[in-house]
Amino acid sequence: MIFLYVLALAAVFIQKGETYTCYSGTDVPMCSSCGGGSCTSDNGCICNTDPTITCVPTSECSSVGTNICCPTGYYWSSGDNCCTATLICSPACKSDEICKNVSNVATCGCNTAVYSGYNTSSLSSTVKCTSSVMTVSLSKCLLEALGYDSTTFQLNNNTDSCVNTYTETVGNVTMQSIQSLVQTGYCGNIVTTDATKVYYSNVLHIGIQNKTIITANPVNISFTCSYNLTMQTSLTSAFKPTLNSVNMTVNGQGSIVTTMAAYWDSQYTSPVQQNQDVPVGSNVYLGIFADANDVSKFVLRVENCYATPDNNVNNVNKVAILSGGCPANQGVTAQVQENGVSFEARVQFNSFAFQGQPLVYITCDVRLCDRNKTCTGCNAARSGEDGTASLQIPLNFLDDYSSSAANTDVPSWALLISTLLAYLSMKLF
Ligand SMILES: *[C@@H]1O[C@H](CO)[C@@H](O)[C@H](O)[C@H]1NC(C)=O
Ligand SMILES: *[C@@H]1O[C@H](CO)[C@@H](O)[C@H](O)[C@H]1NC(C)=O
Ligand SMILES: *[C@@H]1O[C@H](CO)[C@@H](O)[C@H](O)[C@H]1NC(C)=O
Ligand SMILES: *[C@@H]1O[C@H](CO)[C@@H](O)[C@H](O)[C@H]1NC(C)=O
Ligand SMILES: *[C@@H]1O[C@H](CO)[C@@H](O)[C@H](O)[C@H]1NC(C)=O
Ligand SMILES: *[C@@H]1O[C@H](CO)[C@@H](O)[C@H](O)[C@H]1NC(C)=O
Ligand SMILES: *[C@@H]1O[C@H](CO)[C@@H](O)[C@H](O)[C@H]1NC(C)=O
Ligand SMILES: *[C@@H]1O[C@H](CO)[C@@H](O)[C@H](O)[C@H]1NC(C)=O
Ligand SMILES: *[C@@H]1O[C@H](CO)[C@@H](O)[C@H](O)[C@H]1NC(C)=O
Repeated sequence: MIFLYVLALAAVFIQKGETYTCYSGTDVPMCSSCGGGSCTSDNGCICNTDPTITCVPTSECSSVGTNICCPTGYYWSSGDNCCTATLICSPACKSDEICKNVSNVATCGCNTAVYSGYNTSSLSSTVKCTSSVMTVSLSKCLLEALGYDSTTFQLNNNTDSCVNTYTETVGNVTMQSIQSLVQTGYCGNIVTTDATKVYYSNVLHIGIQNKTIITANPVNISFTCSYNLTMQTSLTSAFKPTLNSVNMTVNGQGSIVTTMAAYWDSQYTSPVQQNQDVPVGSNVYLGIFADANDVSKFVLRVENCYATPDNNVNNVNKVAILSGGCPANQGVTAQVQENGVSFEARVQFNSFAFQGQPLVYITCDVRLCDRNKTCTGCNAARSGEDGTASLQIPLNFLDDYSSSAANTDVPSWALLISTLLAYLSMKLF
């Protein structure tokens, strides 16, 4: 405490701009003696009359304000607008650092005294979660003071970019950070879900400094990001969801990724996975969404949906499910639950099968509709500028259980178990 107080006094003392002895041009000329200087933070200062000669600035450096403008052994004092022989770090060190003389270079280093009396239980991580990235950070100087080596950060899986650690400044403290993408298995992420959320967890492993006296044990810090379970987030956490994504281009909006997937539930949070069989007559929920970050002027509207026994959209057996944004009433029971009001569209229909065909291909024509125009209802007039796309997914619709066994080339335990699990998770929902 006393130490901090003295430190604060010292800081005030320096900030007052106590006059230091300014360098006056013994070895390197002053810029004022060569027509003034031009200074950059990369190259320091050069004479205006002869750009091959470096010079020592006075007021010329005030906009650059770093030691690069000063000769070796001199340091920029912004209070005095000159280079002085007194050690000064520019830019100023962080609140838990001190300015050190490392081979005549003023370098900010950790001030371990700030963290005396701290122990491993003081280690607390900051976790930042965005829709695609998780970032975990700890104070670099606290780690150093406790005997840890902050450059040893690594996640559960140390391959890929999972050891890429970097520093950033947060509130005048240097934080050591590492990132993982919000993806199942990435950097060893573990994903779990409950009724309303999906959780991504990982473990940060921190090693100790390589020195004779060991003051700490390597430590593992778990961290978790949670996201609301939605049409979108349930796809990233699913093992092998049945989905299709396309880029839609709209005038002046660049490309907007739009995705269609099938779900088991009316919350649109339990995706139908590849290899899962959907019994004929059950409810299928088609969820279609556009990348929310990009969609402000537009809403997503499903125009048509139809089923074919193969991926040829012109197959003669084509059956319409939705037409002009509304149920087509061609023998398939369908219901439009949301269309043309947000970046998501929701369509429910009853599954059916083509005689003797294991797969049903569902294709939907979608468009991004100008929010200011009519985007809801049946046969809404369309504007020529709207982006359009077709999305297609294959689904296993089974008309009875025996054909399921017949259609499976090699019934494997894995497949059987995953089907059972899917069935169980259906029951749970
Ligand atoms: C950070 O803290 C140091 C010392 O407490 C101070 O000199 C410096 O001006 C601070 N920097 C910022 C950006 O607040
Ligand atoms: C910095 O250290 C060097 C030796 O490495 C020494 O010659 C020099 O005087 C020191 N400068 C200051 C300002 O302490
Ligand atoms: C760590 O420090 C706190 C007080 O700051 C103390 O209560 C705790 O017992 C210490 N833990 C260990 C392992 O020394
Ligand atoms: C780590 O990731 C790599 C590539 O993503 C993968 O091949 C490897 O099996 C993973 N290791 C562990 C232990 O999960
Ligand atoms: C630790 O330091 C010693 C000597 O300074 C060196 O020989 C050894 O390779 C270092 N070990 C690691 C893991 O860096
Ligand atoms: C940290 O994790 C590593 C790898 O999973 C494990 O070998 C080690 O025992 C763990 N250490 C602690 C202190 O839990
Ligand atoms: C998550 O869901 C809760 C409750 O439904 C809601 O209040 C909250 O705004 C949602 N958060 C996000 C980021 O959508
Ligand atoms: C969409 O286009 C962007 C670049 O325009 C590309 O980076 C991205 O991978 C594309 N996504 C899909 C799903 O095709
Ligand atoms: C919709 O109308 C608002 C003002 O009413 C306008 O600022 C906006 O640009 C319009 N959007 C499009 C896509 O034309």
